Amino acid sequence: MCGIIAYIGYRPALPILLDGLKKLEYRGYDSAGFSVMGEKELVTVKRKGRISELEKAVDSSATASKIGIAHTRWATHGEPNEINAHPHLSCDGSIVIVHNGIIENYSVLKELLISEGHRFTSETDSEVIVHLIEKFYRGNLESAVVAALENVEGTYGLAVLHRSENKIVVARKGSPMVIGLGQNETIIASDAVAIVAHTKKVVYLNDNEIAVINGTECIVRKLDGSMITPEIQEIRWTAGQIEKRGFKHFMLKEIFEQPEAILNTLRGRIKDNRVKLSLSVDFDRVKRILLTACGTSWHSALIGKIYFEKYAGIPAEVDYASEFRYRQGIIDENVLVVVISQSGETADTLAALRKAKTAGAQVIGIVNAVGSTIAREVNSGIYLHAGPEIGVASTKAFVCQTMALLLLSLWFRQEKRLPVSDAFIERLFQIPAQIGKILEDAPQITRIASEYSQKQNALYLGRGISFPVALEGALKLKEISYIHAEGYPAAEMKHGPIALIDENMPVVFLATNGQVFDKVMSNMQEVKARRGIILTVTDRENKLLNDLSNHIFYVPETDEDLSPLLNVIPLQLLAYEIADQKGLNVDKPRNLAKSVTVE
Ligand code: AGP
Repeated sequence: MCGIIAYIGYRPALPILLDGLKKLEYRGYDSAGFSVMGEKELVTVKRKGRISELEKAVDSSATASKIGIAHTRWATHGEPNEINAHPHLSCDGSIVIVHNGIIENYSVLKELLISEGHRFTSETDSEVIVHLIEKFYRGNLESAVVAALENVEGTYGLAVLHRSENKIVVARKGSPMVIGLGQNETIIASDAVAIVAHTKKVVYLNDNEIAVINGTECIVRKLDGSMITPEIQEIRWTAGQIEKRGFKHFMLKEIFEQPEAILNTLRGRIKDNRVKLSLSVDFDRVKRILLTACGTSWHSALIGKIYFEKYAGIPAEVDYASEFRYRQGIIDENVLVVVISQSGETADTLAALRKAKTAGAQVIGIVNAVGSTIAREVNSGIYLHAGPEIGVASTKAFVCQTMALLLLSLWFRQEKRLPVSDAFIERLFQIPAQIGKILEDAPQITRIASEYSQKQNALYLGRGISFPVALEGALKLKEISYIHAEGYPAAEMKHGPIALIDENMPVVFLATNGQVFDKVMSNMQEVKARRGIILTVTDRENKLLNDLSNHIFYVPETDEDLSPLLNVIPLQLLAYEIADQKGLNVDKPRNLAKSVTVE
């Protein structure tokens, strides 16, 4: 939820810290701050608002330092303001920390520390950490951090400085910390996005590990003191991939990257019309599949259920991760749990994963962020290889998750010695070009978006495999344009939502090739009879459909089961154009963060 960056090396730290914070703003941006080593004291500056506010506050006392830590915040405890912004300082100002996560026993710790004379300034849970470290500090920062963390319950990604020790101590439990190993310098961050411009060699810290970095050396230990030889990995994407490349927003760039992203998901996973996945699954044990995720990933899970039941012949159910993690549920060694997460750090999905493993289930992950916590804790998994998704509203991850779930269900089908049609496999490879064709029509959507940017509500309707797409289209609109939008099964409309239909209600229909196309047409007529405004996504010319629709978005014909990969594109563009024309911050919508690492 928050972004951390820290630097120690031969270059001035501050420009690196501030640039890194800007790359991490998508993780949270209601306040920010930094601490660097001044002449004798630590210099700490914090500001409410965006990183640009922090930059204005920089003075000469901070510019020479070659070591520092910085933080951009998404509030969980204590409102967004300068006092609650990180870094937090010890009473004597000798120690500073930045923290990402939630300290669940902070109120008990705070009372104890206050009774021992510590003076708190903020309302945050994080501040207890720096006072605990101060309490245990006897001249060795790492030992004091270990002693402090032994008292902490909850999650943390943590970076710590002491004014008398030229080193950075880093620890993690539940919130990501990545260590970038440069030439005579080290950059630590919550996400490799802030590191890749400096080095591609990284170490992903694991839970209950602590690292001591002095610029040229990085020593990693377990909290119990046992040494670890860290695995050095290579970041596979370039700094350029995280820039906008001429697009107005990351979200638009990522919408247009979908043809390439789908190809990357497919790459190397189909040979001679057969799906090739390097997964370790004990098939004999798989009697039932449970898919669990949040938000957009939950929508792709709903599509995955259809694929597993149709192509693998295995019963499948879908549960919100936030519900699954607390539900009694019936999970055992005969269940395969599929967790889906773009960021690989969503707290609810991570908790669901851990619950499933504890219950003895096999757990497969479908994740985009390489090296993320979920990716490292599943038994086996599929990376999307979609490249970094920076826009808070998920787009390319959704289509790549859907494709990955299809590949997985076909792989299961092959393992059951059931036939997979060559023609169907060939149609998979047509999808990228077909998405490209839809994107060519983007200007049509730009033109009509202004008619809807002042609407207060919208309804998205689809049947069968198009129902999850209706949900996804509605989520896109509401999360970036702040227009209330609801996805609904088209046939269900007459059981309630039809009361909402009038001349002010835009209704988006997914009306492409499928066994219930005629039924969808009937639903459209029900809306028209009540003067509703109809926007239609379709793959065919049809007079009645033309007469009923105020606007039509055409998509190429494909197999019904592949239609989500195409039908979602106009809905992404519609949401984007409406939000942009409303002058809203498309990449960083209010109240939202890209990765929800707290529950
Ligand atoms: C989708 O546009 C939202 N940003 C949000 O619902 C997101 O899908 C959800 O938080 C899950 O994130 P994850 O895929 O990284 O786990």
